[in-house]
Amino acid sequence: MATQAKPDLTSVASDHGARHVAIIMDGNGRWAKKRLLPRVAGHRAGVEAVRRVARAAQDLGLECLTLYAFSSENWKRPASEVADLMGLLRHFIQSDIDEFHANGVRLRVIGNYRALEPSLVDLIEGAMARTAGNSGPIIAIALNYGAQDEMVQAVQSLAARAAAGEIAAEAIGAADIDGALYTAGLPPLDLMVRTSGEQRLSNFMLWQAAYAELYFTDTLWPDFGADALAQALDAFRMRDRRFGGL
Ligand code: FPP
Repeated sequence: MATQAKPDLTSVASDHGARHVAIIMDGNGRWAKKRLLPRVAGHRAGVEAVRRVARAAQDLGLECLTLYAFSSENWKRPASEVADLMGLLRHFIQSDIDEFHANGVRLRVIGNYRALEPSLVDLIEGAMARTAGNSGPIIAIALNYGAQDEMVQAVQSLAARAAAGEIAAEAIGAADIDGALYTAGLPPLDLMVRTSGEQRLSNFMLWQAAYAELYFTDTLWPDFGADALAQALDAFRMRDRRFGGL
């Protein structure tokens, strides 16, 4: 990969106050189209942006960065594009896991990843197990993820526990639901970023976004990088979060 001048993130690194940022990485296709390139070229450039932003998240002191890589609805895309995305994800984990591990990063995959191809499931579980004992930031990749699916499986698991007499149905609270979601154990979501000008959540972290700040930028995902993340955190720092209070 080409060496790039490292942006100076020191002015935002310490005082943005965010622990957990999630990003809906949108606009790979439009990025490619503008250059008369095939869509896969946009996704490849998107992987480079993932690398830049994952490094920046560490430099900026985030505890967790969650990236929406493949939704449970993305299966509707042409089979060749699905195969391209799965290939890129596989290659990304294989090629970057050593660097993550060396930097103390914990890799988490959230979503129904167990429904993916068995060798990809093994790769994901190996990468998560290898980095689970690290103490650095968490990079969570949402794969075959849908927030409504996530809530359905959380309700099913709590209902099964209630039926087994392990918990009383009327005692189920928000903390139990938190603990039954794919994101169990991750810090509360502070900031949700979506690139490419679209302004919707597209079935991403709907429960977790209850009090997250939303940040939309016209930048296409392959053009996003450390400075863009720092700008989003700067905007976050200026928000007045009241959580329903005054
Ligand atoms: C949305 O752009 C992007 C995706 C559906 C996939 C995101 C995947 C990557 C960035 C690469 C793989 C990820 C990792 C973590 C290695 P789009 O294709 O919908 O763009 P468009 O709306 O402009 O067509």
